[in-house]
Amino acid sequence: MNPLRGSQTGRPRAFWIGVVLVTALVTIAVVALLISITERRWEARHPFVRLVEIEELTVDPAVWGQNWPHQYDSYLRTVDYERTRYGGSDAVPKQKLDSDPWLRLMWAGYAFSLDYREARGHAYMLSDQDHTERVLQRSQPGACLHCHASILPAYNYAGQGDIMAGFRLVNQMTWNEARNLADDAGKPLVTHPVSCVDCHEPQTMSLRVTRPGFLNGVQVLAASDDPVPHLPSIERWRQGDRREPYDPNRLASRHEMRSFACAQCHVEYYFTPEGDPRGRNQLVYPWHHGLKNERQESYYDAIGYTDWRHEITGGGMLKAQHPEFELWSQGIHARAGVSCADCHMPYERIGAMKVSNHHVRSPLLNVAQACQVCHNVPEGELVARAHAIQDRTRGLVDRASAALVDQISAIKTAQDAGVDAAVLEPILRLQRRAQWRLDWVYSENSHGFHASQESARLLGEAIDYARQGEAQARQALRPDQPPRRVEPPAMPSATPTAEAPPGPR
Ligand code: HEC
Ligand code: HEC
Ligand code: HEC
Ligand code: HEC
Ligand code: HEC
Repeated sequence: MNPLRGSQTGRPRAFWIGVVLVTALVTIAVVALLISITERRWEARHPFVRLVEIEELTVDPAVWGQNWPHQYDSYLRTVDYERTRYGGSDAVPKQKLDSDPWLRLMWAGYAFSLDYREARGHAYMLSDQDHTERVLQRSQPGACLHCHASILPAYNYAGQGDIMAGFRLVNQMTWNEARNLADDAGKPLVTHPVSCVDCHEPQTMSLRVTRPGFLNGVQVLAASDDPVPHLPSIERWRQGDRREPYDPNRLASRHEMRSFACAQCHVEYYFTPEGDPRGRNQLVYPWHHGLKNERQESYYDAIGYTDWRHEITGGGMLKAQHPEFELWSQGIHARAGVSCADCHMPYERIGAMKVSNHHVRSPLLNVAQACQVCHNVPEGELVARAHAIQDRTRGLVDRASAALVDQISAIKTAQDAGVDAAVLEPILRLQRRAQWRLDWVYSENSHGFHASQESARLLGEAIDYARQGEAQARQALRPDQPPRRVEPPAMPSATPTAEAPPGPR
């Protein structure tokens, strides 16, 4: 007997057809129920009624806010201010040059010695750039706007639809030209601070990265040999055939994107000098050798790059800017898989929904949501742990800055005494090494929290390089020529008045 036909002999055909039909109907019903449950769950987490259609270049967050009012409301709160011991923000941001006068000596001759304030909320990023003395007193390129505005419409317009081409063109413009870019109808193109469109794909709302500087930077990082175990999609790309460059929007996990969204801007950068094959004033993230402090330094050394000549010693220096992504990358939280958004945009419950808090700020102002989801420790104790790291970092910063001032003083005394430039050359290199490490940790805005041991290591090295340089400069002097202490260049106080700089509202 053919087993396949056996049943037909036992029971009538109609019975089996009935069984098949009923099974099919039940299956359809169960699947429909499951889909509906999943959809409801998804809706409960991401509820929105699409009231307005969002387009690729809709930068106005108020338009997006009609669809996603909760995220918009918290985004608007980035105008708020509240200080913490080392961070947070003020209505009139603290002038770091006056609270830490050695900064003026460290940066003598560079624009940062004119005005350098505490960061504040995202809402202010465009207006604070409009008002800084670094823009008012020095000529700056359009490249500055890359991280201070919702810039895609400007790139799109300048590049006639080609964002990368537009990026290169806007970088080279003067700051004023770029800031005042308008389309053919005269509509201004640089109008908002970072907005929804910069981090979200308008149709699906999934996270994306749009900043050309980051897209280029993460490609050279992937092609480098610096291990990045906390970024598994890059490690996977490295093991592949590497035919296509690394593309975070295609390859990164959602979890990695929760840090990449911020790494679009919170990173070290430089502008290419005259004569660079890529053109002048191109914004570059120096990740060609990797993310670590000395990997960035080795790249700058290899291309012979210098941000400025130190006004007092003449040494070629490097200026570090907000390497939050890079320092976080060396820390315990990155290794444990904790993203920027986990701490700075934690989920909050609104009714039955889980919404990401778009009020990006110091997590120490929101410990319950930012930290206690993982650390079952009382709030006061957690803040104390963070402060302990920051206080220790601060202690090392004080020692490193004192060492740097002594080093600069000894070099200056040796130069005044007529010590041969060839003798001083290696000493100026030690100044560059010390300055770069101290500046990197100081300009990183967590005051050591993002990677406590790495910060301490770098400050230890800074102290060592500065003291080595000081000792060598002293050796070049006669015993009756003790180094004369150099004071920071005399400059008017840069502390802003109550009116400056105004916020966006
Ligand atoms: C484990 C939690 C955690 C993670 C992860 C984290 N941060 Fe932070 N971040 C902090 C804490 C704590 C501070 C110190 C805040 C203070 O001093 O008030 C801080 C400070 C900052 C500041 C300065 C804030 C201020 O008020 O001045 C910036 C900017 C920042 N982080 C950006 C980032 C970026 C970008 C990433 C990812 C690359 C990141 N953070 C990852 C906890 C975190
Ligand atoms: C790679 C992205 C990026 C570029 C390019 C960039 N910035 Fe910023 N800027 C930031 C970030 C991130 C902060 C907040 C962290 C901080 O203050 O260190 C900031 C803070 C600032 C602030 C407020 C705090 C302060 O320093 O007084 C000013 C003003 C500013 N930038 C001006 C400029 C100017 C001028 C340029 C061009 C020379 C520029 N920025 C280019 C990312 C960038
Ligand atoms: C600096 C980047 C950034 C900007 C700007 C930004 N978002 Fe988000 N947004 C995020 C991150 C990170 C998440 C968490 C996404 C995830 O984990 O998948 C998120 C999540 C969301 C979600 C998904 C639901 C949720 O709350 O987790 C919505 C909706 C959303 N954002 C709307 C907006 C709107 C509207 C704006 C503008 C008013 C905006 N976002 C601006 C980074 C950003
Ligand atoms: C388009 C560039 C850009 C992106 C993207 C961006 N930031 Fe910022 N961020 C800035 C600038 C510029 C400032 C300084 C604004 C000022 O001081 O006027 C800033 C300020 C901050 C501050 C200080 C806020 C305060 O109250 O003192 C924190 C914290 C911060 N950013 C974290 C993040 C995190 C986390 C992400 C990712 C979710 C992110 N940023 C994405 C450019 C950016
Ligand atoms: C998503 C989970 C998560 C969040 C959110 C988180 N942490 Fe952590 N934290 C960890 C893990 C995991 C470790 C590493 C523990 C280990 O491996 O021993 C850690 C380590 C630490 C350490 C020791 C690190 C060091 O450098 O010595 C401190 C302090 C700390 N966290 C404080 C905080 C604070 C403050 C916040 C909020 C701003 C926070 N954490 C948010 C998971 C988290």
